[in-house]
Amino acid sequence: MGLLRLYFGLLGTAALTFAAVIGDRQTCALPTTYKWTSSGPLAQPGNGWIALKDFTSTIYNGQHIVYASDVNSAGNYGSMVFGAFTDWTQMATASQTATSFAAVAPTLFYFAPKSTWVLAYQWGPYTFSYRTSSNPTNANGWSSPQPLFTGTISSSSTGAIDQALIGDNTNMYLFFAGDNGHIYRTSMPIGNFLGSFGSASTIILNDSTNNLFEAVEVYTVKGQNLYLMIVECIGANGRYFRSFTATSLGGTWTPQAKSESAPFAGKANSGATWTNDISSGDLVRTNPDQTQTVDPCNLQLLYQGRNPSSSSSSYNLEPYRPGLLTLAR
Ligand SMILES: *[C@@H]1O[C@H](CO)[C@@H](O)[C@H](O)[C@H]1NC(C)=O
Repeated sequence: MGLLRLYFGLLGTAALTFAAVIGDRQTCALPTTYKWTSSGPLAQPGNGWIALKDFTSTIYNGQHIVYASDVNSAGNYGSMVFGAFTDWTQMATASQTATSFAAVAPTLFYFAPKSTWVLAYQWGPYTFSYRTSSNPTNANGWSSPQPLFTGTISSSSTGAIDQALIGDNTNMYLFFAGDNGHIYRTSMPIGNFLGSFGSASTIILNDSTNNLFEAVEVYTVKGQNLYLMIVECIGANGRYFRSFTATSLGGTWTPQAKSESAPFAGKANSGATWTNDISSGDLVRTNPDQTQTVDPCNLQLLYQGRNPSSSSSSYNLEPYRPGLLTLAR
C-alpha cells in the first residue's frame, strides 16, 4: 500500500512537473500554464486601518516575516509589520505594528555580502529609499533613510513606484514601474551596494498602461539559469499578474503567462472566490537573501485581494486584505 502510493506519487510528480528527484533534492521546471488554489482573507486590518497592501514576504528563523502598506480612513498610506508567525492560519491573530516612518510598498530582504537586512520603499525622502537593520522583526529597529534611487520618469502620474531589488553574483539590479506601460531597470556592481543606484534608468518593457501597470517583482528561479518577473496589470475582470522570463537579469525579458485568460495569477486561474483582484504582493521567499530565490516545487503568492462588491470612492480606500495562492501541481 505504502509502496504503491509512493510509486504513483512519484509517477504523478514526474509527469506533472518534470521533477528530477535526486536523493531528497528536487528541482521543478517553472510551469508554462499556472493554476492555483487560494486561501480566503488571511487577516483583517488592525489599528483602525481600512486596508493592508503591497506585501513583502520572507522567512526568518522558521517564521513568516511580512511587511505591508497600511491605509487609514483618510486614504493615507503608512507601513506595518506582522508579528512573526509560523503558519499562515496564524496571520489573523499576529500582532500588527506600524513603523514610525511610512515605508510604502516595502521590499524586505537580507543582503548577505554585508550581513544586513534591507527595507526599501517609495515615497520617502528619495524616489526610492532604504533603511537597514540587524533584526527585521523589530518594526522600529531600522536605520535612518538612505537614497536608493534619485531619478524621475516622464509620462507617469505616480512617478517611479514599486521597486524590486535582486542580485546575481556580480550586480545588484533595481526594477520599478510607473503606472504607465513601462518597466524600468538600473544596476550597480554588487560590491557597491549598500548604496544609491543614482538617477539614470532604462525602459526594458513597453506596452499599454493596463498591460504593464505596477507591482513588478523579480526572482531567481531555484536550480535553473532562469529569472522570473511578474507585473500587475489591469484587466476586464480585475487586477492580475503577467509573467516574463530571462536568462540574465541584465538581459531581455520574454513574455511567459501573458494574457488575462491565461495569466501568471488572476481571476481566471486563482481559485479565489472572495476576490477578483490578484494584486500587489510577493512570492513567498524561503531564502531571504538578495537573490530573491523562489522554488517552483513550492510556489506561493501572498497577494492583496478585495470583496468585488466593495464600492469605494477611490482606489486608496478599497478594502484590500492579504490572501495566499498555492500553485496546484
Ligand atoms: C521602450 O520605448 C522607449 C521609448 O519610449 C525606448 O527608449 C525603449 O528603448 C523601448 N524599450 C524596449 C525594450 O522596447
